[in-house]
Amino acid sequence: MTKRGLLAAVVMLATGPAFAADPATIDWPNVPTNTVKLFFPGQSTYQWLRSKDHAGAAVVKTGGACITCHKDKEEKMGAAIVGGDKLEPHPIEGKQATIDLAVQAAHDNENLYFRFQWKTRNPHPGSAHPHRRFDGKDWKGIGWPRLHKKVWDEGQPAIYEDRLSMMIDDGSVPMFVEQGCWLTCHNGMRDSPDLAATDDVKAHPVLGGVLKKKDVRKYLPASRSDDNATWNMTKSPEEIAAIKAAGGFVDLMQWRGHRSNPIGMADDGYVLEYRLFDEGKGVFSSNWDNEKKQPKYMFDDAKVGFKSKIMDELRDTSKPQSLIPGENAVAFDPNAGWKEGDMVPAYYVSREAAKGSAADNSEVKGTWEDGMWTVLWTRKLDTGNPADDKIMKAGGVYDFNFAVHDDNITTRGHHVSVPMTLGVGAEADITAVTLK
Ligand code: HEC
Repeated sequence: MTKRGLLAAVVMLATGPAFAADPATIDWPNVPTNTVKLFFPGQSTYQWLRSKDHAGAAVVKTGGACITCHKDKEEKMGAAIVGGDKLEPHPIEGKQATIDLAVQAAHDNENLYFRFQWKTRNPHPGSAHPHRRFDGKDWKGIGWPRLHKKVWDEGQPAIYEDRLSMMIDDGSVPMFVEQGCWLTCHNGMRDSPDLAATDDVKAHPVLGGVLKKKDVRKYLPASRSDDNATWNMTKSPEEIAAIKAAGGFVDLMQWRGHRSNPIGMADDGYVLEYRLFDEGKGVFSSNWDNEKKQPKYMFDDAKVGFKSKIMDELRDTSKPQSLIPGENAVAFDPNAGWKEGDMVPAYYVSREAAKGSAADNSEVKGTWEDGMWTVLWTRKLDTGNPADDKIMKAGGVYDFNFAVHDDNITTRGHHVSVPMTLGVGAEADITAVTLK
């Protein structure tokens, strides 16, 4: 849209009716659309980018911006990787090199409002997720992301939710404006080169000892003590806490087709020494009672007409797909006459249980129609939780990265944007127009 068009849209909105904080009432057709080209990044980790295999390594090492050399090259980069020519050891047949993410943004004094739209590869929304299946004796996990070896090696079903993610910084994280989310992806992580062994992670004093983790997930180089930001070279918990207190983390929020959308929310996390959720209680929980070795919840037969599903019913969007205790789910009954093949979701979601900073994204709703997701997302400029959120204000410009997980995928199987800026009523790559 031209400058003049943009101004017209702002003026139109400004003279419209007094704005209530409901994104559905925003005149979206008159808010400029930014088409953000997301591309398939494969295993282009922090370490690969600095290796002899990447022609831009010398510049990347000194903190250079990816777009110095890769501006408007998303199509070419995605195509080079998605087919397996480089950086992708398990190419997925038919996977798109790029996804166009339409981003529209507006704001008032309190909130940022987004409308996101993108086409899914499948003729159905990714609102199913792994389940527990009764085999006549036990409830075993079933369904995996497409890059899992159970899928590509053993032919097990690929079942995983669609996601839309935003990573935000306010200039506190060194190099984030130049290199964005690539600062957070490292060798050693799940589905990355040199995968860290489970036992090594468990034995690690910070990752296993303090955080009780079994795998490596996103982290920032500032949380590591060596130049190559190696996964096991963590700084001490005290040093990491000091970085966090100074704002040296990135905000990471994910809207999830199965584990947040049915309750109109997105999760809220951050990345520093690991990808962690914010303080409080998040939007989803495991539906597994480890003592009783059985699910915690099943669907409420009295309310929805069934207590479990079978494989063929998982994609039926006319019926609830996620367990919501109190609304469509009740406590699991082990004596309900279970038959082999009965399935219940491996997670449940709860708006009531979500608390604290982890529950900040409480107004996020996606609808899927004619092959396209439309997600309306409200995010408070100031969540009141500066310890694990990026606080924004009108007139400010912030660093944003976007990602979409499409077609039953997790980890590197997403499509990502190059780093960009978003101005809250200010000039930037994406400008959130001011509502009055
Ligand atoms: C100084 C220039 C330069 C910079 C800065 C740079 N790159 Fe590259 N990059 C290259 C060149 C040249 C290639 C090889 C392209 C080719 O073979 O056609 C490449 C290849 C790649 C590829 C493989 C896909 C492809 O097109 O070959 C990825 C992914 C990539 N770069 C990501 C990044 C990211 C992310 C950053 C920022 C952290 C970055 N690059 C910074 C020059 C650069």
